[in-house]
Amino acid sequence: MPDGKTLFEKAARGIRTERTPVWVMRQAGRYLPEYRALRKTVDFLTATKTPEIAAQITLQPIDRFELDAAILFADIMTPLEGMGVPIRFAPGPIIESPIRSQKDVDGLRPLDPDEGVPFVLDALSIVRSELPKDRSLIAFAGAPFTLFCYLVQGGGSKDFMDARSFLRGNPEASDALLNLLGTSMIHYLRAQARAGADALMLFDSWVGLLDEKLYRARIQPVMKNIIQEVKAEIDRPIIYFANGGSALLEAASEIGADVIAVDWTRPLHEAVARLGSSTVLQGNLDPSALFASRDELGQEIDKVLESGMGAAAHIFNLGHGIHRTTDPDQLGFLVDRVHETSERLSSDREG
Ligand code: CP3
Repeated sequence: MPDGKTLFEKAARGIRTERTPVWVMRQAGRYLPEYRALRKTVDFLTATKTPEIAAQITLQPIDRFELDAAILFADIMTPLEGMGVPIRFAPGPIIESPIRSQKDVDGLRPLDPDEGVPFVLDALSIVRSELPKDRSLIAFAGAPFTLFCYLVQGGGSKDFMDARSFLRGNPEASDALLNLLGTSMIHYLRAQARAGADALMLFDSWVGLLDEKLYRARIQPVMKNIIQEVKAEIDRPIIYFANGGSALLEAASEIGADVIAVDWTRPLHEAVARLGSSTVLQGNLDPSALFASRDELGQEIDKVLESGMGAAAHIFNLGHGIHRTTDPDQLGFLVDRVHETSERLSSDREG
């Protein structure tokens, strides 16, 4: 690491590396026996709010696998309590009093990270001091539309119909809520960068429920503003995960993020064909491929790596979070296979 940049950071900034960096979404979590053992002694919310425990869980997958990045153990809902919304988890987030009117929106306050999420900032500085220098630390925030979905719906849903009808039926209150979430996430991301995060990620898990016209009109401006305002203050690569967003790929790529993370429904070479070869991609193995035989899993990993070769750079990941019933040894196999195949593909390219 002579120039002070990790493999992950080089790739995130569009530089091709001698092998493809790899990490996986939800790598700190329930598929790991050491996580389940710790969770027997502490509930999820307390774990996210106790810096030493959050740091320990963040580092669990790093101790086990040769991953290029750690992602802070927290949740996209974590900062919302600091905005005045009580949350509980069972195991997904539940909001007892959903936001359903302008009056409800007026009752919220913008996030002050030092006051609302000091434990997240402390956890980040602990992890950064314990993480090897050649690994990057990713901090994240929920994208406003995805947070809006949970806040208005009151919890998880297949189609977030209440949230989507509120977006159309109460445009002024909806835009006020989206903007308040946008401003809060700007403060949250900047504070996390100052606390030690090397890269930032925005999770838009439910944005694929929107058509392109609605996305461009109501969501894209909020997203553009977040990227612009964060970048005006701090220089960190930003990853945007627009889950289910293959119909929105062009619109999502216009917000100004450094890296576009994609789900597994379309191959990476299609994203390159649509967005151009200066695009940096993250993804996109189907998480269920980790349940296939080693033969098939190996072939699927190679296909993703080959498909990503046309991008400016590629960060290997799953197309969504690792499932809680995954055998951890399959992830070990994945990491080794990504190393081997990507080294071979890179040297073929050089030669
Ligand atoms: O390893 C990591 O990726 C870091 C930690 C992390 C968690 N949640 C921990 C968690 C991250 C990045 C998230 C993001 C998150 N949370 C998203 C965006 C990513 C995505 O999956 O689309 C969303 C939509 C949430 C909301 C949420 N939190 C749900 C739907 C659930 C239930 C998940 C399930 O599989 O049942 C949670 C709880 C949660 N967040 C757990 C973990 C480890 C499980 C908590 C437990 O019981 O131990």
